[in-house]
Amino acid sequence: MKPLATRVGSVKPSMTLAISAQAKQLRADGVDVVGFGAGEPDFDTPQNIKDAAVRAIESGFTKYTPASGTMELKQAVCVKMKQDNGLAYEPSQILISCGAKHSLYNIAQVLFDRGDEVLIPAPYWVSYPDQALLQEAVPKIVETREEDNFRLTADVLGRHVTARTKALILNSPSNPTGCGYSLDELRELAEVIVAQDLYVISDEIYEKLVYGSFEFHSIAEIGDAIRKRTLVVNGVSKSHSMTGWRIGWTAGPENIIKAMSTVQSQSTSNPTSISQKAAEEALTGPQDAVAMMVREFDKRRAHIVERLNAMEGISCLTPQGAFYVFPRVDALYGKKHGDRMINSSLDLADYLLKEASVAVVPGVAFGADAYIRLSYATSMETIKKGLSRLEKAFSGLS
Ligand SMILES: Cc1ncc(COP(=O)(O)O)c(C=O)c1O
Repeated sequence: MKPLATRVGSVKPSMTLAISAQAKQLRADGVDVVGFGAGEPDFDTPQNIKDAAVRAIESGFTKYTPASGTMELKQAVCVKMKQDNGLAYEPSQILISCGAKHSLYNIAQVLFDRGDEVLIPAPYWVSYPDQALLQEAVPKIVETREEDNFRLTADVLGRHVTARTKALILNSPSNPTGCGYSLDELRELAEVIVAQDLYVISDEIYEKLVYGSFEFHSIAEIGDAIRKRTLVVNGVSKSHSMTGWRIGWTAGPENIIKAMSTVQSQSTSNPTSISQKAAEEALTGPQDAVAMMVREFDKRRAHIVERLNAMEGISCLTPQGAFYVFPRVDALYGKKHGDRMINSSLDLADYLLKEASVAVVPGVAFGADAYIRLSYATSMETIKKGLSRLEKAFSGLS
């Protein structure tokens, strides 16, 4: 048999999805697993959004829509961007896709050529490097430091740009660290991006999930020069607890959006008509469910950070957004439990799953092996139970 295309060999399955599957299997086998792996809010989709979907079905809104999304949803995205971000976009500058991940994939399709370098600050969301690899582009991982709150500085960015660099991927607030960029930090980065003639892909999927005094800003807000080279990616998956509905979007320069729309028209066609109606309601309807989720996440965040920092060998920054904590755990490396040696985040995650029935994601999945990621998108009761198990499991290492 002839081989598969070589680019398939360069990508790996998403490790976060793999961990969730392992935890699910253990649960199906009757093990009481505490899951800190989830990348999705634990809340149900708000009722008004579900009702809008039911109305769409009942009124026969069940056929193809324009491949790039309905005009109504594009307009709702434009209104949202004007209100929330002070950014004026036209519907011709918006593409609706099947989730933010699909938006990012479409961007990679139209921007990256073989050999182009794509700068990805680490810790990074798992799919960025693999989506670049699928285009035979070169993901260039740029380390950030915990002391800088895992933020890329303009100076470090400047030092990593080469003649082949095409784009930078920014994610604020970040999965997995929860850290976000201030307007001043974005301004400094924008200067380098413009001066070096790069594109910036700004993944803003956690925009609505921010806490304390942190104020979300999009890098596109800095001014026209940066906006012309920015692709804003966002969606309703995390903000409105709609991960299964698969609606995300890109806002950007018209020529890029048009190219992405063509790619989408030859691959998936339109995102589900019913989900588009639901997303329209999510953006234009009442927002109290979002505020309720944020309040709840905020309480859990405070609890989990405090308890983790009280554990021997663990240190954890307070995240500004999203629903993850990213504690540093490498003080435990070199320790043992019986015959089991812990030398990496994978070893630790495996130990926690098998010996303590707690699912976490190893930091190596995000390019940071000294850490593990815990999602607090699970009830306070589950968080408390899981933290007690972690405490016990960590103290069982010597
Ligand atoms: C940083 C980041 N970007 C994009 C996505 C994908 O979102 P969606 O479910 O809308 O495809 C996720 C989901 O985990 C994410 O964490």
